[in-house]
This record gives sequence, structure tokens and C-alpha cells, in this order.
Amino acid sequence: MTSGRTKFTVEHVIEVEGVSHAYGDRQVLRGVDVGLPEHRIAVIGANGSGKSTFARLLNGLVIPDQGRVRVDGLDTRSDGAAVRQRVGFVFTDPDAQIVMPTVAEDVAFSLRRQKLGRSESDRLVAEQLAMFGLDEHADHPAHLLSGGQKQLLALCSILVTEPKVLICDEPTTLLDLRNSRRVSELLATLPQQVILVTHDLEAIRDFERALVFDQGSVVFDGPPAAAVDHYRELAA
Ligand SMILES: Nc1ncnc2c1ncn2[C@@H]1O[C@H](COP(=O)(O)OP(=O)(O)OP(=O)(O)O)[C@@H](O)[C@H]1O
Ligand SMILES: [Mg+2]
Repeated sequence: MTSGRTKFTVEHVIEVEGVSHAYGDRQVLRGVDVGLPEHRIAVIGANGSGKSTFARLLNGLVIPDQGRVRVDGLDTRSDGAAVRQRVGFVFTDPDAQIVMPTVAEDVAFSLRRQKLGRSESDRLVAEQLAMFGLDEHADHPAHLLSGGQKQLLALCSILVTEPKVLICDEPTTLLDLRNSRRVSELLATLPQQVILVTHDLEAIRDFERALVFDQGSVVFDGPPAAAVDHYRELAA
């Protein structure tokens, strides 16, 4: 593995240790070992290189055949629910994440497990919607929002539960330029840790770290500019 990195100096939040994974007889991840302490980490690489599988490991959506993934010391294999409280997952297709008829109801639905009073829940929902500029749409049917607004709603519904980490698997792929920029800018300003899988090599320039996947392995781990160079060489 080529590395532009020095040793980790921060407490790890997510640790991926010796992870391999296969679907049937198709080996998709091979011996992945990474700690993920940085605030913004990008994951890039060719189609089918294992990025989404890797992303899904990080909140226990996929449990590895071999090795383990821990979040704050909690193993995704045995503590899935606690891991998912800490780690939110944003899918590519916002329609897949919207579960309730109206915008406000969708965000409120995320809070159902917290057993808050109605007024407290309403307050948190209103606050979150205002932060994303969706407050005027609170009572609108969620399915009538634009693609970008839907992705913002999906983010609202996740962030209202205050996860520490946000895993985003190509959250802007289906969006037009304007909405894609809007979502990227938002991700760039969130206080949460963001781990972003993307093919948008421009959007990761200011990230602290980028992993390049190739055939199920991390083949480069370092600053985004050097990672993009490495990825371009692989593709050439
Ligand atoms: N649920 C599944 N069952 C079987 N094979 C799968 C499954 N999910 C992914 N795969 C296979 O695993 C490999 C890696 O897929 P993955 O989705 O992790 O790649 P990716 O890097 O995210 O690709 P892309 O850039 O196209 O999104 C691919 O060969 C894919 O066909
Ligand atoms: Mg993918």
C-alpha cells in the first residue's frame, strides 16, 4: 500500500480491523485495516471496487465475514443498534430513505425511539428543517420535493437524531449541479464526522484524507490530491 500518511494521533472513532468480505464466492473486500479518526474522509475508486460494501460495514449494514469493525469500541457484529445510533447512513437515492408522507413527519419519525414529548419533538424537527432551509416545506408532501430537497430531507431525518458520524454513499450522484453543490457544501460544514463515498473528485479537495479502493483493497491512503492522482493512474 502506498501511504502519504503519518501515524494516527487521534483517538479512533471507527476501527476496521482485518476485514474481508465475500458475496457468495465473489471476494469483495480483502484485508482492509484502517482507523478512521479524521473529520472528513473520502472513499474513491472504480465501480465494483468495494466502496459501498466498505461504507455499509461502518454502521453494521454489512457484517464482515472476517475481521471486525468497531465504533467507539462497540462491535458492529454484536452491538448493531448502538452502532447505528452513532453512525448515520445516507444512501444515493433519497426516495429510498423517505418513509413518511410529509416533510415534518418524516423528520419526526426518526425521533420516535427517543420518547420525547410532542412539543420537544416538534421543536427539534422545526429547528432541523430551518437549518436546511426546508422549514417552508414542513407540511408539504415529501415526495413532491425536488431531488436535492429530498436529499436534504434525508440528511435532516438522520441528523435530527444527532449521530456522531455520517456515512454518505454517493449522496449527490442523482442530483443536478446546483443541488449537488448544495449537498456537498452542507456536508463540508457539518460538525459531524463525514465519510463520503464519491466519484466527484472535485468535491473532496478539502477533505483531510482519502482512501482509494481497488479490487477490494485500500491501495492508497493519504491526502485527497495525491489520492486522486493515484486513482487516475490506476484508471489509465
Ligand atoms: N448484495 C450483494 N450481493 C452480491 N454481490 C454484491 C452485493 N453487493 C455488491 N456486490 C458485488 O460486490 C462488488 C463490490 O460492490 P460495491 O457495491 O461495494 O462496489 P462500489 O465500489 O461501491 O461500486 P460503485 O462505484 O459502482 O458503486 C461488485 O462486484 C458487486 O457486484
Ligand atoms: Mg457503490
